Amino acid sequence: MRISVIGCGYLGAVHAASMAELGHEVVGIDVDEPKIASLREARAPFYEPGFEELLQRTLATGRLRFSTDMSDASGAQVHFVCVGTPQKRGENAADLRYVEAATESLLQVLQAGELVAGKSTVPVGTAARLAEMVGEKVPGAILAWNPEFLREGFAVQDTLHPDRLVYGLPASGAAEVAERMLDEVYAPIVERGTPKVTADYATAEMVKTAANSFLATKISFINAMAELCEATGADVKLLADAIGYDDRIGRKFLNAGLGFGGGCLPKDIRAFMARAGELGADQALTFLREVDNINMRRRIRMVELTREVCDGSLLGKRVAVLGAAFKPDSDDIRDSPALNVAAQLQLQGAVVRVTDPAAIENSRRQWPQLDYADTAEEAADRADVVLVLTEWKQYLDLDPRAFGEVVAQKRVLDGRNALSRTAWTEAGWTYRALGRRAG
Ligand code: UGA
Repeated sequence: MRISVIGCGYLGAVHAASMAELGHEVVGIDVDEPKIASLREARAPFYEPGFEELLQRTLATGRLRFSTDMSDASGAQVHFVCVGTPQKRGENAADLRYVEAATESLLQVLQAGELVAGKSTVPVGTAARLAEMVGEKVPGAILAWNPEFLREGFAVQDTLHPDRLVYGLPASGAAEVAERMLDEVYAPIVERGTPKVTADYATAEMVKTAANSFLATKISFINAMAELCEATGADVKLLADAIGYDDRIGRKFLNAGLGFGGGCLPKDIRAFMARAGELGADQALTFLREVDNINMRRRIRMVELTREVCDGSLLGKRVAVLGAAFKPDSDDIRDSPALNVAAQLQLQGAVVRVTDPAAIENSRRQWPQLDYADTAEEAADRADVVLVLTEWKQYLDLDPRAFGEVVAQKRVLDGRNALSRTAWTEAGWTYRALGRRAG
């Protein structure tokens, strides 16, 4: 099929290349010239394992192109809208400016019989509004909502092997046409028996925000348990293991620690609450405020724990922060708990050096006042305390004995409950983690 993908950020760039991998003729469009230039040269504008290889492979077939000109979307049978929906400044609601602008400009080239498939995470009700816009300007064109569930770090795998497909379809007779077109787009995925849910627009939009809210709630649940563990002397990691064996609960997303960040979970739960308020159903989601609060408290607790370990004062203490990205295998620092903690520590008088395998460049741009190091050893040179705040594999693989040689004080704070407590304590380190007794 001929496909256009509007918006070449994380979601769009990976989607465009993945659609070409499935055999389609794809054009990816974005207003950001440097981004398009980089994609054209098969250079990933962000860190994502496996993406650059996919890009090289699909560009080489000639089936994938990138452009800054919307008129290049002309003639595509399906147009995917993949632009961002960040949090509005000073408000909880989502900013729909980019979705609206992208749809408006797409309307200039859209033809009857073509399908607009929205993928951006939007407040419930948006698809119906956009469908009206599309129907008014281009009678005969159809709109569907097709949310995406990819995780950063696994974006290629999640796009080519999703665990489900969700189609939000119009109420009219166009539903069948839209479903058939989406089935054709995803043919190899559909054929392998991937579960597919067809629904109305509102349900499809809500699937996405409900899923992210559930994940955020699961993380905050275990972090609330961590707070209780700190008060009782219990161990949150053992607790998570033990409750996780119940497959109704499951062990995934029960890792206690610094909590969630990134460009999705925090802003999505806030936008969901804001939308519920607009709909007069705010009570239904007041629990998400608590989810957000628990999450933010973990960052404050981490700063407190660092102070505690540094004999009650942060002034002049040398703190090494390992990890800046909001999670490993990503260079994304949006709402990164690690950087948030690093900045707070510095504001409170500590001498902070941050390192990360992929996110230093982005971090430096956003937090120029922090000091950065290329390696964990460099960051930890003569440190009074080492904080592991993003669980990159290279930090989990550190040899605590050799690493102990570079620091001034062998104190480690495991912000993600991911290090081997035994290995570090046996090497003479004082080990502290959120929700666990001092080791
Ligand atoms: C999340 C969802 O997992 C995806 O399904 C969704 O498609 C995506 O948002 C989106 O809306 O686009 P992502 O933001 O890439 O994906 O990251 P996650 O893997 O969900 O991690 C989010 C945060 O939770 C990270 O900061 C991570 O460190 C934290 N986390 C995760 C925990 O603190 N504990 C856990 O047990 C798991």
